[in-house]
Amino acid sequence: MIHRASGHYSDAAALTAQRIALGKALFNDPHLSADGTIRCASCHIPEKGYTDGRRVAVGVEGRAGTRNTPSLVTIGVAQETSFFWDGRRSALDQAVLDPLTNPVEMGLDDQTELLQRVQQNAGDRQAFAQAFPDAKQAVTLEQIATVLADYVQSLKLPESAYDHYALHGDKTALNQRALLGLAIFKGKGRCAECHLLQGTPAMLTDHAFHRTGIGLDAIAQDLPRLTQGVIQRSLQGAAIGNRVATHADEAQLGRFNVTQDPADIGLFRTPSLRDVSQTAPYMHDGSVATLDEAIDREVYYRSLQAGHPLQLTVEERKDLKAFLETL
Ligand code: HEC
Ligand code: HEC
Repeated sequence: MIHRASGHYSDAAALTAQRIALGKALFNDPHLSADGTIRCASCHIPEKGYTDGRRVAVGVEGRAGTRNTPSLVTIGVAQETSFFWDGRRSALDQAVLDPLTNPVEMGLDDQTELLQRVQQNAGDRQAFAQAFPDAKQAVTLEQIATVLADYVQSLKLPESAYDHYALHGDKTALNQRALLGLAIFKGKGRCAECHLLQGTPAMLTDHAFHRTGIGLDAIAQDLPRLTQGVIQRSLQGAAIGNRVATHADEAQLGRFNVTQDPADIGLFRTPSLRDVSQTAPYMHDGSVATLDEAIDREVYYRSLQAGHPLQLTVEERKDLKAFLETL
């Protein structure tokens, strides 16, 4: 009996491994884009922390979107429960399908076209049959979503210097500057109120939405027209993701695009700061080019917002940066 049980366990593990491998293959397959040139990994580049180094993403036929490509390595670790900068999806297996039909990302007409492309590929058909041995049908959308989500969820970084310090008690993992930075991050900087240090390893996000102050000034004059536009297009049934990626001004309304609650205008999800030194440029619209600027911006704006004006010296900002580089 024991042997049987462990046999089942390793069957399940082998199946998961197969699904992750299949997800990885799809993630790297340009044939799933309208013009055959764009794959998930065109924007989520492994060597760049699964971001693209661009201000905003560029998809099929050189079309630019409106948002900065987020890292995918934080999803599993931070146990994210909402996806995209405005949290418009609450399930990963929905989120992974959206880019395929987004007109400025992979540009397929619809999910039927996606399904046909995968089903027409003999190699894919065989791989899906192996990864889902009990399935009655040859390749379904749910299966595609499952393997992509399994792959994204499996992405992990090696342990960071801060992990060594916090998880393994290695007090030498952070140098003096980084230690001072950590104290500011937790203490007077109040960064850890949103970029939480809780979790094993630290999640560095509170999974919540906050007003950012970024991008909103430019559209402040135009709010009534823009919010009307969002409500109208949503009544017409346009997918939020496609709308947001093709209307830069409306994209700046953030979470309002999802809830249509005026209280949510300009709110964005707190990004995890894991690997943050590798993912420039920063913020939902990629408008902040460097980590130094991002720190200046957050020190100024967050303290203003909290009503506790915060003055950090040049040296203290360097400390904070040294700490962020250990994440
Ligand atoms: C053209 C560039 C581009 C391509 C191609 C692309 N993405 Fe993305 N991805 C983005 C951008 C930009 C966002 C953020 C969009 C937003 O928040 O509105 C994003 C967000 C995501 C998210 C949510 C991450 C989070 O932290 O909330 C997931 C998951 C994701 N992409 C997976 C994929 C998968 C899987 C593919 C391939 C099927 C893919 N992406 C293809 C640019 C791209
Ligand atoms: C009230 C919650 C809150 C506090 C406090 C806060 N942040 Fe943030 N942080 C956010 C949100 C939300 C964003 C995303 C803003 C956007 O994209 O418009 C963000 C973005 C960032 C980014 C850019 C990350 C990326 O991937 O683009 C950095 C770096 C950062 N914060 C550092 C800090 C530091 C350092 C502090 C302390 C001085 C701090 N934050 C305090 C909520 C917070």
